[in-house]
Amino acid sequence: MNNIQKYVEEHKERFIQELVDLLKIPSISADSAYRKDILKTADAVKVRLEEAGCDHVEICETPGNPIVFGEKIIDSNLPTVLVYGHYDVQPPDPLDLWESPPFEPIIKETKIHPEGAMFARGACDDKGQMYMHVKALEYMTRNNELPCNVKFMIEGEEEVGSSSLGWFIERNKEKLSNDVILISDTGMIAKDVPSITTGLRGLSYVEVEVTGPNRDLHSGLYGGAVANPINVLTKMIASLHDENNHITIPGFYDRVEEASDLERSKMAEAPFSIEKYKEALDIEDVYGEKGYTTNERNSIRPTLDVNGIWGGYTGEGAKTVIASKAYAKISMRLVPDQDWKEITELFKKHFESIAPKGVRVNVKPHHGGQAYVTPIDTVEYQAANDAYKEAFGKTPIPQRSGGSIPIVSLFEKELKSKTILMGFGLDSDAIHSPNEHFGIWNYLKGIETIPLFYKHFAKLKSGE
Ligand code: BES
Ligand code: MN
Ligand code: MN
Repeated sequence: MNNIQKYVEEHKERFIQELVDLLKIPSISADSAYRKDILKTADAVKVRLEEAGCDHVEICETPGNPIVFGEKIIDSNLPTVLVYGHYDVQPPDPLDLWESPPFEPIIKETKIHPEGAMFARGACDDKGQMYMHVKALEYMTRNNELPCNVKFMIEGEEEVGSSSLGWFIERNKEKLSNDVILISDTGMIAKDVPSITTGLRGLSYVEVEVTGPNRDLHSGLYGGAVANPINVLTKMIASLHDENNHITIPGFYDRVEEASDLERSKMAEAPFSIEKYKEALDIEDVYGEKGYTTNERNSIRPTLDVNGIWGGYTGEGAKTVIASKAYAKISMRLVPDQDWKEITELFKKHFESIAPKGVRVNVKPHHGGQAYVTPIDTVEYQAANDAYKEAFGKTPIPQRSGGSIPIVSLFEKELKSKTILMGFGLDSDAIHSPNEHFGIWNYLKGIETIPLFYKHFAKLKSGE
């Protein structure tokens, strides 16, 4: 056992208990009723950063939720790592599908996590993963092993589009200056298959409203004679994909960067079982864009999905009615070099153009962001690679993810530094779903791997 492993072994009960305490606070950013809990969580993160060894920690007010900023500068000539994470969580709904209450964390064994997993909203996304960095800092400061400067920026609006973070970065470029940004808010292939996330998809999120007659109508008296907004909306949505599951919005693919054959064959080398994939989701077959594999469809290809659709009568029993309005929330996952604002415009124009006479359509853009790709021929990637190799005894596989952290492309634009995505979650950890969990093994392995990144990064930087 090396020093880090010994330290983790010795303190793991406390590391787990501290995470439990953080997970008990329902810091739901989507619902303003939880504003107090947001503030309470920010305060708790501040205290934890101070305890872990930061010299200076502050709660930075923004137009939205506060950002916790902390730093430990040991020598201004040394490089600086900026850790980003988020303390806000997704709403826990639907509540009745949770096997234990979302804000009463418990540890249970699962097939994939025989060492136990912590079940709670935010366990993996992102309190558990963010907190690995706080504990890694604790290890480094208490053992005199911090080899460079470190800054923390932990925000509270990631799950709702990070709008205050852009505001904050613009005003604090000097304060946030760094040599690399380090984030654990993604996943890895499997516990015995370490991987580093090298890409994130962009996002355009819109809400659409279709209005027919000026009031709800009796579906016998008016049915068949006027446009039913729900019928029309579903027909319009269905037309957004063709028979090959290609998206039909004109111009949608114009800027899409096509992966080379070499890249695609490299991707195909990553271990993946389509049979296990189908089994885990209890589906007879996969589904998606013709000409691409499952792993291509969920990472390097753009998509369009309805996230919610409503209107009319959905209560108990039957009500014969033609609703006046129908709604849907639609997300488009984007890839380099699509521009999310342009895609939002293309969607709006197209959706309005396909509406039949007899309804009015309103497209309301929500939020979005650009895709991101981490180059792998850099000192920072090499440092991450070496850290995983040392911790796992295996070379990590670079893998592009299908998820989005829209703020990452902004970091590069404003702070001019690259982001390394060291995720320790698993796809099966149910983030954003009922029964979200984070493996105790993954949590502790993360705490063990992170200081190795600092070590290799500082070493490689000094030899540059
Ligand atoms: N941590 C996730 C993103 C993620 C998860 C990326 C797993 C890769 C692998 C983040 O908190 C998230 O949920 N992002 C949102 C977008 C955001 C604007 C709400 C997403 O991807 O839906
Ligand atoms: Mn997250
Ligand atoms: Mn999330």
